[in-house]
Amino acid sequence: MESILSYMAEYDYENLVFCQDTGVGLRAIIAIHDTTLGPAAGGCRMWTYATEMDAIEDALRLARGMTYKYAAAGVNLGGGKCVVVGNPATDKSEALFRALGRFIDRLGGTYMTGEDVGTTLRDMEYMRMETPYVITLPKELGGAGNIAPATARGTLQGMRAACIAAFGSGELGGRSVALQGLGMVGKEVLALLRAEGAIVYVADLDGQRAEELAARHGATVVSPESIHSLDADIYSPCALGAVINDATIGQLRCKVVAGCANNQLARIEHGDLLQQRGIIYAPDYIINAGGAIYDADRLQPGGFNQQRALEHVDRIFETMTNLIAISRREGISTARAADRLAEERLAGVRKAQRVRPNVRIAM
Ligand code: NAI
Ligand code: PHE
Repeated sequence: MESILSYMAEYDYENLVFCQDTGVGLRAIIAIHDTTLGPAAGGCRMWTYATEMDAIEDALRLARGMTYKYAAAGVNLGGGKCVVVGNPATDKSEALFRALGRFIDRLGGTYMTGEDVGTTLRDMEYMRMETPYVITLPKELGGAGNIAPATARGTLQGMRAACIAAFGSGELGGRSVALQGLGMVGKEVLALLRAEGAIVYVADLDGQRAEELAARHGATVVSPESIHSLDADIYSPCALGAVINDATIGQLRCKVVAGCANNQLARIEHGDLLQQRGIIYAPDYIINAGGAIYDADRLQPGGFNQQRALEHVDRIFETMTNLIAISRREGISTARAADRLAEERLAGVRKAQRVRPNVRIAM
């Protein structure tokens, strides 16, 4: 990214906020992409970014991903994201998250935060002490609790739809899967896949975690460097983004890419290249929307309804099936078909907003 403001203009971002508090060691960035559908929501990521620019770019890209995720899933929220620069293993404190909570509070509800890589519900509780604008929360605080199982459930729905297109069957029993990342969501994906009888190869940067989870669920551990190039039916990226890039794309030997990681494609063109190679790509923000959908259900009139929330998550199968049909009919990648779906909903709602219901002439 050469210029932040030009990048923001190119992709139509609304706001970028820098937060720092030396007293507690807080350095954070909040990106608000689009609030057409409602207040921006999206997780808070804590990561040791190599450069400041990496952190800014991550916040911006992830925020835009949330706009598209909610738009395509039919949820009335906008897209935002927060990144905290730091090591989640050593740099966390109550004071740091409470300070961040106060910054989020100052935004007056235009951004609601939640969990992401490197943060937990405990961290959300600290922010909740300072601001009501925390969307993923423990059940005791009125939230939906851990949303990773719902994210994993949706991911499998998307994977099934992609398998129908690639193999003529959505049956996951007997399919081989290379699963990259065994964090909050990856470990749930592993459990679900093994329950359906898939043959699973796993890798995590934390080798001990990989060994333990593989032993518990009956999977095989491989190295993080080789997981993407394994000769498996499905490659399931469930760690960080940009894993489909110039270096890795030629090494893929799978027929399906379907995982929960955000921003899997380094660039949208990598989706075209997957299509040219005959690999069915399940767009990240479509199939990882389960947690966001499940979590947002509590904002419906009458509050959280688990059955309705899970039914909404399961609709990811239909959305993915629909995207594959559009991709085949129009000769575009599933990634571009997904973007189109989200952009059409945003454009439709923007048009509807031109008629403002509350403007009245005082008589
Ligand atoms: P997490 O932080 O719990 O887990 C990430 C795991 O990936 C860690 O175990 C880490 O050691 C591992 N990892 C990182 N780089 C790796 C690499 N190169 N190779 C192998 N393993 C690697 O994160 P979580 O919550 O499981 O999220 C995973 C991904 O899914 C992220 O991209 C996140 O943004 C996305 N996501 C998460 C949702 C949720 O419900 N938690 C919802 C939607 C998307
Ligand atoms: N960070 C997760 C995601 O990208 C979970 C999350 C969803 C957090 C919605 C906050 C709001 O979907």
